Amino acid sequence: MRWTLVIIIILSIEIYAFQSFKTLFKFNWISKVYLSINFLIYIFLFLSYLYLNYYSLNISDLFYDYLSIPMAFLITLLGFKLIICSFLFFEDIVRILTFSVKFLFSFNDSNDIFIQRRQFVSKIALFLASIPLPFVVYGIFKGRYNYKVINYELEFEDLPEKFDGFQLTQISDIHCGSLKNSEEVEYAVNLINKQKSDLVLFTGDFVNSKANELIKWKDVFSKIEASCGKYSILGNHDYGDYVSWDTKDEKKKNFNQLLNLQKEMGFKMLLNENVKISKEKQSINIIGVENWGKGGFKKNGDIDKACQGLNNESFKIVMTHDPSHWEKKLLNHQTHFHLTLSGHTHGMQFGIEIPGWIKWSPIKWAYKYWAGLYLEKGQYLNVNRGFGVLAFPGRVGIWPEITVIKLKKI
Ligand SMILES: [Fe+2]
Repeated sequence: MRWTLVIIIILSIEIYAFQSFKTLFKFNWISKVYLSINFLIYIFLFLSYLYLNYYSLNISDLFYDYLSIPMAFLITLLGFKLIICSFLFFEDIVRILTFSVKFLFSFNDSNDIFIQRRQFVSKIALFLASIPLPFVVYGIFKGRYNYKVINYELEFEDLPEKFDGFQLTQISDIHCGSLKNSEEVEYAVNLINKQKSDLVLFTGDFVNSKANELIKWKDVFSKIEASCGKYSILGNHDYGDYVSWDTKDEKKKNFNQLLNLQKEMGFKMLLNENVKISKEKQSINIIGVENWGKGGFKKNGDIDKACQGLNNESFKIVMTHDPSHWEKKLLNHQTHFHLTLSGHTHGMQFGIEIPGWIKWSPIKWAYKYWAGLYLEKGQYLNVNRGFGVLAFPGRVGIWPEITVIKLKKI
């Protein structure tokens, strides 16, 4: 029943939107190309569905290999059609009202004006609906690999002298299961190493849902280098919560596999704990918490436990996946956290950013702190825009990020 309703709605949108092509191009080659593209996408998705069912495969195992791009095109084209439909619908309302008035007052007018108006509205609708299409295509094939190194120099009065000029690189949200082009990923890893940072800090979501996504990329990410170490924390996707497991034991095995693989890649996972980075008898502390997110997200992060053994005066850098943790728990905590590093939002992989002019993404309606550097109550937060992609297999306007932060003493 639910599927019948979905099919009726999609068919109605298809038929209604096609009216604009029919009005402008009749059934010439443009209409035929448009219909063929639609037909091929539907056929491909239908065959994929049959294939998954026939071999009893889990959709999440194959989504990013085969289905994500046609699905993205399907959704983009649906958006394109909905824009056209809204224009045609508005024009139809005007048409009905005009006909009613003509009927009531017995006007006798030429039909040409309606045909011309229909053509004009169809042209405007097609033009406006087409604007996002090249951006989406660019986002899928290029934008997702448009890695940006974002540099900050942050000054602190109480930074230990020996750490003046100390540099850290933050990466976040790799989402291995969605990675495709190994050359581009190798390029990004080289770019990380070129920064020659003392520390590399990874702020969660190495995978989409299962630890085995990491196996294929283990060698590449093992190449990341940092003289003072590589540290990581868990993101909401790292717990295996987004797939169904036959037994609790299987889920636990998956979790342990993720921890082991990260260890083998040289990352020290911080699970509500801290570590001291020392230089000539001076030190700073890196504090790593488990995922803590507002709303329905997992709340395993425990900042008090993670700070155990630290004194109030030490210089503290916190790694916490979700920036809402900073907003809700860290910002008003009795302890002063000099710098907090987060990710999670991906900047929704969609938005507009022109430094100094505009910074916008729809994600700002869900997260107050959603991308870039923030300073509140003398404490910094950096929200990394993420390395990989999730759900939509592309990025438009919000590019994959490698953050480089130099600490300076004043
Ligand atoms: Fe993520």
